[in-house]
Amino acid sequence: MGLLLKNGRLLNLETGELEAREILIEGDHIAEIAELVEESGHEVHDLNGGVILPGYIDMHVHLRQPGFEAKETIETGTKAAARGGYTTVACMPNTRPVIDTPERIRYVYDVTEKEGSCTVLPYGAITVGELGEELTDIIALREAGAVGITDDGVGVQSSAMMRRAMEVAACQDIPVVIHSEDEDLAKDGCMNEGVVSKRLGLPGIPGLAESVMIARDIMLAEETGAHLHVCHISDAGSVELVRWAKQRGLKVTTEVTPHHLLLTESIIDETDGGDANMKVNPPLRTEADRQACLQGLLDGTIDMIATDHAPHTEEEKKRSFATAPFGFTGIEFAFPLLYTELVEKGTIGLAELVKKFATNPAQVFRLPGGKVEQGGIADLTVVDLETEQAIDPNAFFSKGKNTPFVGKRVKGWSTLTINRGRVTYKTE
Ligand code: DOR
Repeated sequence: MGLLLKNGRLLNLETGELEAREILIEGDHIAEIAELVEESGHEVHDLNGGVILPGYIDMHVHLRQPGFEAKETIETGTKAAARGGYTTVACMPNTRPVIDTPERIRYVYDVTEKEGSCTVLPYGAITVGELGEELTDIIALREAGAVGITDDGVGVQSSAMMRRAMEVAACQDIPVVIHSEDEDLAKDGCMNEGVVSKRLGLPGIPGLAESVMIARDIMLAEETGAHLHVCHISDAGSVELVRWAKQRGLKVTTEVTPHHLLLTESIIDETDGGDANMKVNPPLRTEADRQACLQGLLDGTIDMIATDHAPHTEEEKKRSFATAPFGFTGIEFAFPLLYTELVEKGTIGLAELVKKFATNPAQVFRLPGGKVEQGGIADLTVVDLETEQAIDPNAFFSKGKNTPFVGKRVKGWSTLTINRGRVTYKTE
């Protein structure tokens, strides 16, 4: 018996057209896509005219397990992901202990097998404990199934260490995923360095703290031949550097978060630095930086959207702006938010946005999915483009409620998500 999806409209990613199609799923694959599929014996789901999209792939989330289960677990984080339309997430290793051994990579796979609601691909750390002092066993991490190596949460400060990591990664054909942050420049900053930080008397993190590290790592990637993936790009100079690297033909890719596309430091100004739910790293920057990110997304410099879903407890986020931890949750509403803000307002087409959410991450990281096609993996989500609903932290499956988008009314919510042929989310 298969799963039969009826009364849906499949987005054609080439033409942008919505086409009436029925989809039959057998096991973990799409068995048939046709105008009409023989109904007998299948479990039928009526999609009520919903739009069928490939399941989204988020290459940057923090699931917090092991060690920070008060913030999130693999169970709650992946349930949130499924609600958000995601079928694959890649999780960051800044847990406690840090995911820096093959056993810990396997631990993530094992817990996901038992408790997960989507495919989870763990990253392994570049340095032991993310301390920047000793290289991990990158070969063993890759063999255990690490999707890439990264010290996300902190930047690798030593150029020699990064060079060695890239040399091994290039031989092993595993992406090096960088949290670009020069600690000397960032110091103890808690927001973007500029007029607003000066007015509020808060220590700032300059855009240069990001871009100088990207410049360094592009040069190292050119020398070593490693695939360099730049996390959460946020600064205009950084976008320019990645554009240059791509023009040079280097294997350099990047992602941007919904918040860096939509918000600036002015929201911190409006609340006089009184709300740490607006604190994130890299920080929200200027309008010029935001425009550069948007332009980079549109011209292909920026390959994909990643949420940097970073849940924290309410108690932690109630602390002062200077002392609260950095991070926003976002996986549960990223697509509706950008559909409403960018597609409905005419900045980007629906098919282009879907490529940034699914097709491109699959292509860049060579993963299954990213397309809805006969014979392909049955990873998909169905969205309702008409019904508007507020972003309501009380309704989140995620334990993290820390988002600056509370109360925003958006369209494009998922009504059904299927991961490898299994229904992982369905609205009532
Ligand atoms: O805002 C952030 N939160 N940025 C990071 O780089 C780390 C993350 C976290 O782990 O909370």
